[in-house]
Amino acid sequence: MSNPLSLTPNFFIIFTLTILYVSYTFPRLQPKQTNLVFYQSQFSGKSGPTSNILQFGTLVAVDDQVTDGPSIESKQIGRTQGLYINSQLDGKGLHLVFSAIFTDGEFKGSALEIQGADIFGMKEREFGIVSGTGYFWFVKGYGIMEIEFMDIANLRAILKLNVTVKHY
Ligand SMILES: *[C@@H]1O[C@H](CO)[C@@H](O)[C@H](O)[C@H]1NC(C)=O
Repeated sequence: MSNPLSLTPNFFIIFTLTILYVSYTFPRLQPKQTNLVFYQSQFSGKSGPTSNILQFGTLVAVDDQVTDGPSIESKQIGRTQGLYINSQLDGKGLHLVFSAIFTDGEFKGSALEIQGADIFGMKEREFGIVSGTGYFWFVKGYGIMEIEFMDIANLRAILKLNVTVKHY
């Protein structure tokens, strides 16, 4: 016959172990999610070889201003540095690879590594966030790029980048 009193310590050991297990694993199973929206002034003040980004095979290096808002007076919070290559035979699609390097604001000192297809005729283009540094260690995610403002005559555009990342 089992003594009911002897069950009590076993119950407490199992209960305690369960609580420890749950509290230890729970934060690791639930990645944090961060959403950030920033703006990129694109193709502004380019120098270098004469090239036509609308032609297949053209490679353009960019070092663009990142701001926290779409207007000229918005605060600069970083740069996007990297390259665009026209990678669609009919010229209507780009492949982009660049870093968004934050030098001010909430994510100062951190960077996101961005890569993806940019079919620029589409209103909203999705791209990948493949990694990051600083605050963005081990991130993965996606972003949506939209044209906020465009001035074709002066080859100037402001893009809105809405990024969602998961990380630990
Ligand atoms: C950013 O994108 C998410 C979807 O990923 C959307 O729910 C949210 O409304 C967007 N935010 C802005 C400011 O556009």
